[in-house]
Amino acid sequence: MINVGVLGATGAVGQRFVELLADHPWFRLTTLAASDRSEGKPYGKIVNWRLDTPFPEKIAKVKVTATSPKSMKDVDLVFSALPAEIATDVEKEFADAGIAVCSNASSHRMVSDVPLVVPEVNPEHLGLIDVQKDKGSGGFIVTNPNCSTIMMVTALAPLRKFSFSDVRVATMQAISGAGFAGVAAMAIYDNVIPYIGKEEEKMETETLKIMGTLKGNRVIDAPFHVSASCHRVPVIDGHTMAVWVDIDEPLGTIKKAFADYKPPIKGLPTQPAESVHFFESEPDRPQPRLDRMRGRGMTVSVGRLREGVRFVAMGHNTIRGAAGASVLNAELIVKKKYL
Ligand SMILES: NC(=O)c1ccc[n+]([C@@H]2O[C@H](COP(=O)([O-])OP(=O)(O)OC[C@H]3O[C@@H](n4cnc5c(N)ncnc54)[C@H](OP(=O)(O)O)[C@@H]3O)[C@@H](O)[C@H]2O)c1
Repeated sequence: MINVGVLGATGAVGQRFVELLADHPWFRLTTLAASDRSEGKPYGKIVNWRLDTPFPEKIAKVKVTATSPKSMKDVDLVFSALPAEIATDVEKEFADAGIAVCSNASSHRMVSDVPLVVPEVNPEHLGLIDVQKDKGSGGFIVTNPNCSTIMMVTALAPLRKFSFSDVRVATMQAISGAGFAGVAAMAIYDNVIPYIGKEEEKMETETLKIMGTLKGNRVIDAPFHVSASCHRVPVIDGHTMAVWVDIDEPLGTIKKAFADYKPPIKGLPTQPAESVHFFESEPDRPQPRLDRMRGRGMTVSVGRLREGVRFVAMGHNTIRGAAGASVLNAELIVKKKYL
């Protein structure tokens, strides 16, 4: 078993980490860290558990520690659910202290020697860990994408074999994507907010790195263009998106690509049986309420495939889009013996 900790353990994503790691077959959750507001108190006393799964009582007595490598000496790997402005320096400190960091924050995603990984899409990009190890102290940072980007790249994975140059996407994103304190009820109830700070830029750049090619010590961006329009909608969990891709192939060929898709990795505990679930004949799916927990929240559902090529993709933003994505990355890191 590998000892692991969670940074930002009390937040929306941090709680998902705790849920996914409490009984993990490869990782032992030993340490929980949060801000100095929470430090020194038992996790069970200060966490405001908001998930619709029972609180894992066995970690209730774990005392919340300071967010510093000095307070987390027994861990080999930390999962970071820190706000980006805090994560920039803190994650670097952990890596410099020889600890592996699997991060949800955006701070290091576009740094050239930091892998931005979705195991089903670009597992080979973990090779950048060696570039970090050559420069440093044995620790390293691996990131997963923004919660809407990951749904789109996972849905595009079966279509990679076709040529295309232009991807357009319009998202309908859940309020949990903004964290617990994120969007006031008065702002989102009975409403749509057509702006999510920096989200469109993240979808437009992260997609090209993830679907790019690892060459030597860097990734060459994928050779297509992405144009995104992002919107917050009154859904609790589950990001939905309409996607347009300029693939010039018969619809039957595209259907077959989705229906026959098999990801390039297998045997990871958090990996769902289906990375992409394709609704071929149900005209009104996917829907967040009905489909977000498919594959324990790790499956991306695709449907409404039409000529163009147009389709709708949807996945759970705090599981597939955040904590589950990081845990899957950590499992791949272990399987590939980087840890
Ligand atoms: N929500 C999503 O769907 C989603 C998806 C992908 C990525 N992300 C990213 O994941 C990260 C966490 O998001 P979230 O939605 O979970 O945020 P959140 O609910 O606001 O939680 C923030 C966490 O960080 C801790 N924290 C705040 N300031 C700190 C400090 N100065 N030092 C140490 N810890 C501090 C908080 O601890 P206290 O409780 O003690 O304040 C809390 O545990 C962000 O970078 C976000 O962009 C979120």
